[in-house]
Amino acid sequence: MHSNFETLIENFATNQIGICDHFLSEELAAKLKIDLISLFQDDQFNSAGTGNHETLQTNQLIRKDKIYWLDRNHNNPFQNSFFDLLDDFIVYLNSTCFTGITGYEFHYTYYEKDSFYKKHIDQFKNNNDRAFSMIIYLNENWKKEDGGELNIFQCNSSQLISPLSGKCVFFKSSELAHEVLVTQLPRLSITGWLKTN
Ligand code: OGA
Ligand code: MN
Repeated sequence: MHSNFETLIENFATNQIGICDHFLSEELAAKLKIDLISLFQDDQFNSAGTGNHETLQTNQLIRKDKIYWLDRNHNNPFQNSFFDLLDDFIVYLNSTCFTGITGYEFHYTYYEKDSFYKKHIDQFKNNNDRAFSMIIYLNENWKKEDGGELNIFQCNSSQLISPLSGKCVFFKSSELAHEVLVTQLPRLSITGWLKTN
């Protein structure tokens, strides 16, 4: 497990974008996917917004994904296994990189066919608690023609990342602009932020 954490952190240190292809075991990814789909079918997801508090708005021209906030209090064994993994990662990150992460927030994300999220930065204008962004994908057998790549912008270039099951992407929330390209199939993920303060 620590070798996954090491991969993520080393990639991040060299490229500003950490990528680990098998951050989740196949088994946990499959269980989380089943949980996500069943919550979606039970109508537990809401349209995602942009901004926070008084600046929160939902604008389907900017993003069309639907979300469900994860919480240990749901007492869901798979969500809690995910939080256990995350807690281990944060201990490792804080002790090796002195990042001072003190909390996090994570949600399931569902992009229906034809959904997208236009170019943006994850940090709010009025709050810099979000230190790192993490996205973990839950889509098996994703193919190029399915679209829905994460496109991350850096200086004069950009990097396309396919949303393949088990993969984790990790970057600084204040620094890298990114977008989600139009997806041709339902696209499932866990998205969250590691926070300071
Ligand atoms: C986000 C986001 C990227 C992705 O939810 O803020 O940029 O690949 N997600 O899902
Ligand atoms: Mn984002």
